[in-house]
Amino acid sequence: MGKGYFISKPLATIAALLAALAVITIIALSIVYSKEKAKNELKFNNGTSPVPPTKPPSNEPWDKYRLPDTISPQYYNITLWPQLTMDSQGMYIFTGESGVAFKCVKETDLILIHCHKLNLTLFEGMHAKLMGMHNTKAPAIGKTWFQEETQYLVIQLKGTLKPGMVYWLYTEFRGELADDLEGFYRSEYEEDGAKKVLAITQMQATSARKAFPCFDEPAMKAIFHITLIHDRGTVALSNSRDLGPESLKIKGQNVIKTRFEPTKRMSTYLVAFIVCEFTYTSKQRDNVDVLVRIWARKNAIAEGQGDYALRITQPILEFFEKYYNTSYPLSKSDQIALPDFNAGAMENWGLVTYRETALLFDPQTSANGNKQRIVIIVAHELAHMWFGNLVTLKWWNDLWLNEGFASYVEYLGADYAEPTWSIKDQFILYDIYHAFAVDSLVSSHPLSRKEEEVNTPSEITQMFDTISYSKGAAVLRMLSQFLSEPVFVEGLSTYLKQFAFGSTTYTDLWDHLQKAVDKTPNLKLPHSINDIMNRWILQMGFPVITIDTQTGNVSQKHFLLEPDSVVERPSEFNYEWFIPIKWMKRGVEQEQLWLLQKSAMHKSLKAGNREWVLANLNVSGYYRVNYDLQNWERLLDQLTTDHQTIPVINRAQILDDAFTLARASIININLALKVTKYLSKEREYIPWEAALRSLSSLYDVFERNEVYGPMQAYLRKQVKPLFDHFTSVTRNWTTVPAGHTDQFTQIIALSLACSTGVQGCRDLTKHWFRQWMQEPDNNRIHPNLRSTVYCNAVAAGGVEEWDFCWKMFKKSTVAAEAVKLRSALSCTKQPWLLNRFLEYTLDPEKIRKQDATTTIGSIASNVIGQPLAWDFVRERWEYLLNTYGTGSFGFARLISDVTAKLCTPFELQQLKQFQKDNADVGFGSASQALQQAIEKTTARIKWLAENKEPVLKWFLSETA
Ligand SMILES: *[C@@H]1O[C@H](CO)[C@@H](O)[C@H](O)[C@H]1NC(C)=O
Ligand SMILES: *[C@@H]1O[C@H](CO)[C@@H](O)[C@H](O)[C@H]1NC(C)=O
Ligand SMILES: *[C@@H]1O[C@H](CO)[C@@H](O)[C@H](O)[C@H]1NC(C)=O
Ligand SMILES: *[C@@H]1O[C@H](CO)[C@@H](O)[C@H](O)[C@H]1NC(C)=O
Ligand SMILES: [Zn+2]
Repeated sequence: MGKGYFISKPLATIAALLAALAVITIIALSIVYSKEKAKNELKFNNGTSPVPPTKPPSNEPWDKYRLPDTISPQYYNITLWPQLTMDSQGMYIFTGESGVAFKCVKETDLILIHCHKLNLTLFEGMHAKLMGMHNTKAPAIGKTWFQEETQYLVIQLKGTLKPGMVYWLYTEFRGELADDLEGFYRSEYEEDGAKKVLAITQMQATSARKAFPCFDEPAMKAIFHITLIHDRGTVALSNSRDLGPESLKIKGQNVIKTRFEPTKRMSTYLVAFIVCEFTYTSKQRDNVDVLVRIWARKNAIAEGQGDYALRITQPILEFFEKYYNTSYPLSKSDQIALPDFNAGAMENWGLVTYRETALLFDPQTSANGNKQRIVIIVAHELAHMWFGNLVTLKWWNDLWLNEGFASYVEYLGADYAEPTWSIKDQFILYDIYHAFAVDSLVSSHPLSRKEEEVNTPSEITQMFDTISYSKGAAVLRMLSQFLSEPVFVEGLSTYLKQFAFGSTTYTDLWDHLQKAVDKTPNLKLPHSINDIMNRWILQMGFPVITIDTQTGNVSQKHFLLEPDSVVERPSEFNYEWFIPIKWMKRGVEQEQLWLLQKSAMHKSLKAGNREWVLANLNVSGYYRVNYDLQNWERLLDQLTTDHQTIPVINRAQILDDAFTLARASIININLALKVTKYLSKEREYIPWEAALRSLSSLYDVFERNEVYGPMQAYLRKQVKPLFDHFTSVTRNWTTVPAGHTDQFTQIIALSLACSTGVQGCRDLTKHWFRQWMQEPDNNRIHPNLRSTVYCNAVAAGGVEEWDFCWKMFKKSTVAAEAVKLRSALSCTKQPWLLNRFLEYTLDPEKIRKQDATTTIGSIASNVIGQPLAWDFVRERWEYLLNTYGTGSFGFARLISDVTAKLCTPFELQQLKQFQKDNADVGFGSASQALQQAIEKTTARIKWLAENKEPVLKWFLSETA
């Protein structure tokens, strides 16, 4: 998902936003960039299961979460009729009938089929009908019942099913079309003054069973014949092309029946169907019979908001066909933007669903960051059409391979569609550094989990985390770089060919990559792929390598943010890795090394006078780098004299590694602070963005104490040249620069200058905003700069600015614009406005459910809003948990957002009290996030105590 980012990046949309949120509201940085990745920071405890078993262990098959291996589905015939108007009981419902043809694999007298929140209506007391196919006789049904905990319909038979025979199990059912964002659900929006209702699906991971009874496991692939009954004036969509709508009359109602072509053999979690009043913009692909359509609200399509997605879909599909050496497996590709969607996007085969912000681009009002997010998420989802959908991992424990892979190749597909954007360089910002952040805690977990450790829906949901998406992507990128792209791609394409329409485990991919390596005589690896990669996927964490350029020694150590923390999770590899090291000496790239032990000598690493060594070129490896002090000093010299000799990605790396090593007390904080001195000359986006993130964690601890003033003064001095640079290249801020990433840097210049008080900056933003308030129908603020301008104006203003912003938010018909306004509303400095805004999140008429937890999180990233949001969350914990705590991928993020600034022993105590007080109600999908919050708060307290004095001194001396 992009559940957001999660859920095949369902949360990606939010995720991108979330990733940037802290920075956006704290330093008013406003690159509203989010990916599908929700980047939930869910983590697993050391060895303990995140959710205690709710049932005493039982050996009955219906008490086990996994289906028995006695039955194999072949095809389903499903007819569904969603009612888009409320019934007399005030409910929205759908009715359906479904049959599944299945083959008996092992003799059995029991059928278990997933079925959740459906009322079976076939006839009194009878839940299902069973028939034999092809002249087989079926045994009679004995007892049937629902096993709520494991979500099965249990059917005991009076005789047995015979191996090799095929049977037909038929049910009729009725379900609620709730607004719960999972399974078959409804969404509402307003168009031209009228309320519209649509029916949509989100099956991943375990909600197909809420739409129709099914064998709801990814390896239980089948063919689906889907039929939808719907009102006139609506259109029905599903995974395959329709066979033409027919009009008919049912129970006196004039309706349309749309049947769809049978799907390919596929998993239940990829099934999708939609009934709506949307329209589309389309294109037949050149030379191939594939229909490409972008669907959205009629007004959005009329305004051309789907055009950008349509334009990039063609090249992205083309890219992946070449990359995988496999044609697009289906005859159509629909992508649809939904007003209510939990994830960022979801890769349903042939019918990909998105949040509006992840698919729709309005050239009048959307920023180039919005555009970038679209191209990345679309590339991610389309990458899944092969990797994930055509070939599917057998079970959710291997989710990291599916999501990590898509999170890596999304950059390749996006780069092909937008070749001038240098998108691949941003990988370190949006994946590697997110992964590092959670993977440096003892509460992290290995990429790969054992199959038997992942059973319940909640355990499955927790697999959609930063580790699966971003660390998965980072280790696959490292693998592809040490193999070289052609070898990687060769192994990949034979893997896809062998397992098309089937299911695999990650070792199947390793086997194919190994075959590709064995066919390449001049590629010498120190060990097999399996041996090298096992160390990266079976043990959590990552190494920091230390290079001593005096002796040529290089050594490795498990990197932990909190140096005194105790790792309880044992590793058969002893927390050592096989590490590929690409490196350069004095600007010249050298031959790649491998570090295969704890430490080793490499004479070539010795450096003489004025020679500097720089390791992990382009951060192609998933590790951090430390050096002897002399080498650090030489790197600093190089940055100050001519920073461009160091590759741009590595300038970001030096900043980020230095700050993080200082956070972990491995190097002195003064050394990290010194790196920021060269920033006054830096004009590139990636290093500036890396700097902002490091600084934002400094803000988290220093914003409320005496360090704040001197820190602001220093940053003001450092950003002033960047601000002046853009003042001159944009003719006094009347234009935006041409370069894609230069536009991002311009935003950083404006937001950091305004938040640190560079002369003239706030006057600019105030002036622009006031102009808009005077002419609300004529917003002349450049879309790129809007987040920053809105946030600054609301922060500087009072209720008048806030109410104006709110009015514009409610009026906005462009999702990306609404996101900017909603986020700006949390920038106010007035506690009463912040509290009022918090209350709004309880009312779906004011703040959509899909946005509620993000809104609370963004209020918490405001230093004044943080205590209010934290109180709010604690007071209403039960409500929040019941409303968002299980299916929602943003829920864990809520906990990390509201606790991000806690840094005193008293606050830690409150956090622990919160954990205690709610032990009974629980923490749902935020359980791991809460563990992390405690770990991170403890680390912040300690770090603050040790570093406050030196940091204060350093800032004072730099600004004296
Ligand atoms: C299932 O639907 C297909 C396509 O409409 C049809 O050919 C087939 O006979 C149906 N199977 C059963 C058992 O009804
Ligand atoms: C299903 O049955 C229960 C119990 O009779 C009832 O409360 C519920 O409203 C029914 N749901 C639907 C969608 O009819
Ligand atoms: C796959 O590669 C072969 C050999 O290079 C080529 O002939 C073929 O056209 C490729 N297929 C696709 C679908 O790209
Ligand atoms: C920008 O504004 C300054 C001060 O108002 C003015 O002196 C300068 O000429 C302007 N520059 C451009 C390129 O318009
Ligand atoms: Zn995905």
